[in-house]
Amino acid sequence: MKVIVLGTAAGGGFPQWNCACPTCRNPELEPRTQDGLAISADGNNWYLVNASPDLRAQILATPELRAGPGLRDTPIRGVLLTDAELDHTLGLLLLREAETLAVHAPPAVLTALSRFRDITDRYHAWTWTPVPAELDGITIKTLAVSDKRPRYADDPAPGPWVVAYRFEHNGGAFVYAPCVAQLPHGFEQFAAGATYTLLDGTFYSAGEMPGQTVMGHLPIATTIEQLDVPLAFTHLNNTNPVLDPGSPERIAVEKSGHLIADDGTRWEI
Ligand code: MLT
Ligand code: MN
Ligand code: ZN
Repeated sequence: MKVIVLGTAAGGGFPQWNCACPTCRNPELEPRTQDGLAISADGNNWYLVNASPDLRAQILATPELRAGPGLRDTPIRGVLLTDAELDHTLGLLLLREAETLAVHAPPAVLTALSRFRDITDRYHAWTWTPVPAELDGITIKTLAVSDKRPRYADDPAPGPWVVAYRFEHNGGAFVYAPCVAQLPHGFEQFAAGATYTLLDGTFYSAGEMPGQTVMGHLPIATTIEQLDVPLAFTHLNNTNPVLDPGSPERIAVEKSGHLIADDGTRWEI
């Protein structure tokens, strides 16, 4: 199974367009696009997992996802969503040229995205269905991780509003959980045996940003303590000191055997 990390920044990207903090203004730090990835069992049929507002640039920067071989062919078969947050879903609107697309998400997320669907239905009739147990040779498992609904969605739909994914193929496993408020019961078991768990790395520590706790992101310092599985971090907020490869926090993550994913990181699982 092939995994390509397309983007590794939290909502707003890095640097964030309306932030002039020292980290966002540091010209030595590599810009990052918003969180998402692509997976494939065979290297020909690809599924996006989350669709960020940076999706067009991410596709163009990724040879495996570019159009072809036919004039109107694309290797992108569908999209899986972990949640309905705008940084994970606005990219759907950028795919409106696609004549067919399979969108898969938990039911509450599909309900929230009916707003998008009202728009995309005017262009092409995509399919919008719950997450299947198998997709082009990849076995898919989900774990409910939180009931944090996006600010724009006041839908009464019952949760879960956020899930983690476990993808399995040919004995290999990979876990993706970019939005984790609390580690739910059974998370470590869900992640057991995965080559990597690509985890919510929004913040390094508690108290990094005012109002952080209500945003529903468990900090890296806590998850490293609580989990005994190989971790890679994504969805990095512009307040996170690990954005600087020379920071003590980044060095601490790497010393403990985990890593900070970069845009374009590729894994063969
Ligand atoms: C989050 O991850 O907490 C959300 O994406 C924040 C937001 O952009 O509204
Ligand atoms: Mn987010
Ligand atoms: Zn900033």
